Amino acid sequence: MSAPSQKPGPFPDDFLFGVATAAYQIEGAVDIDGRKPSIWDTYSHEPGRVLNGDTGNIACNHYHLWESDLDLIKSMHVGAYRFSLSWSRLIPDGTGVVNQKGLDFYDRLIDGCLERNLKPFVTLYHWDLPQTLQDNGGWAQRSTAEAFAAYAALVVNEFGDRIDCISTFNEPWCSAILGNLMGVHAPGNQDLALALKCVHHQHLAHGLATKTIKSIRPELPVGIVLNLQSVYAAEQGEEHDAAVDRHRDFHNHLFTDPLFEGRYPQSVMNVLGQNLPDTWEKDLQTIQQPLDYWGLNYYQPTRVLHDKDSTANFPQTKDAPKAHDATLTDLGWEVAPATMVDLLSEMYQRYDLPPCFITENGACYNDSPVNGEVKDDRRIEYLDAHLKSVSQAISLDIPVQGYFAWSLMDNFEWSEGYDSRFGLVFVDYKTQTRTVKKSGHWYAQLAEIYLS
Ligand code: FCB
Repeated sequence: MSAPSQKPGPFPDDFLFGVATAAYQIEGAVDIDGRKPSIWDTYSHEPGRVLNGDTGNIACNHYHLWESDLDLIKSMHVGAYRFSLSWSRLIPDGTGVVNQKGLDFYDRLIDGCLERNLKPFVTLYHWDLPQTLQDNGGWAQRSTAEAFAAYAALVVNEFGDRIDCISTFNEPWCSAILGNLMGVHAPGNQDLALALKCVHHQHLAHGLATKTIKSIRPELPVGIVLNLQSVYAAEQGEEHDAAVDRHRDFHNHLFTDPLFEGRYPQSVMNVLGQNLPDTWEKDLQTIQQPLDYWGLNYYQPTRVLHDKDSTANFPQTKDAPKAHDATLTDLGWEVAPATMVDLLSEMYQRYDLPPCFITENGACYNDSPVNGEVKDDRRIEYLDAHLKSVSQAISLDIPVQGYFAWSLMDNFEWSEGYDSRFGLVFVDYKTQTRTVKKSGHWYAQLAEIYLS
């Protein structure tokens, strides 16, 4: 077992270390015990959507292996486990009949966390909308936001006394923009007007659910998890600086302004406002709810250029080619830990925010076992460098209260399928054997120091 020469940190005594997963990426058992399809079941079965035609049918078979998986998490000395619930396991059609066997599964999982002294951090929506709701229009419909609030009520009534934190959405940008504008995530639409309706109804769903949760259990901390971009101009020049501002407005502030300040960014409204549902203005008050925390999922910076093509849609930016000296992960994502501090500083300057957790951070490196060992030193370097950035942010008085490594184990990486591995634990999908990687041992050593 090896540790980096100097431990990242320091961190406050009560700093929380955890690991994260999401339901569709690990559970499998998609048609067992009353679960019905979600949009990710449908999408991953459509030819050409996911690399190698992979699906979440079996994934890590966590639905059956949850007990030994919790033991594994415990053995890593972390204090918290962040996971999401499958809406279509709990309410198979999204509204109406509740599936008792779904409740039983999460009952066992949550109790299993508590027996092992792991704080459950529960996410309600990590992209897997029940297919029946999609068939009725999905996030483009206001009724989906109302259905989400009812789902939140079920979860809090059932589990609210036993969980530590609840997040409404994981990365609403991905489900709205990747799923409905870029068409590279479920449900696979490419429609700007539709995507904006989805953005708004997801915001509304967050607001309605937050109100519902607080009315049932005021003491339960509620937040939302965002994948904000740290945006830089790849070349000098006013046009590129202006492009950065537009890019931030569209990809970040379209989410953070309504959620944190109850307004939409003016630049987006000027160009695209007509695509929002007619009710947008009167919904803003519901959308902006006081939150107890927010989560940042951070992986890499975004480098953009002004797009000279005047017919390009707002924000009229294009991704810059990677710099020749950029360090890249196996998915081609740039490693630049200091950019996370820039982003956190920017957010706390722009908004009056509650404390935050880094709810996801990690890297895709596809090292395999050699003689039973996975020597993923590059992942250790990545995590070490990003944890140093977290510590630096704390030294700048940014209230970061914890850090969750993405991910506990290799899993179904959405459109990238199973080839892209982010785990601290290696999963052999043929045998479902788990092997703790070198990075997993390293992280466990670090987490143990802070385990109170
Ligand atoms: C995030 C997702 C998570 C995982 C990582 C690599 O955007 O929230 O499910 O796919 O990226």
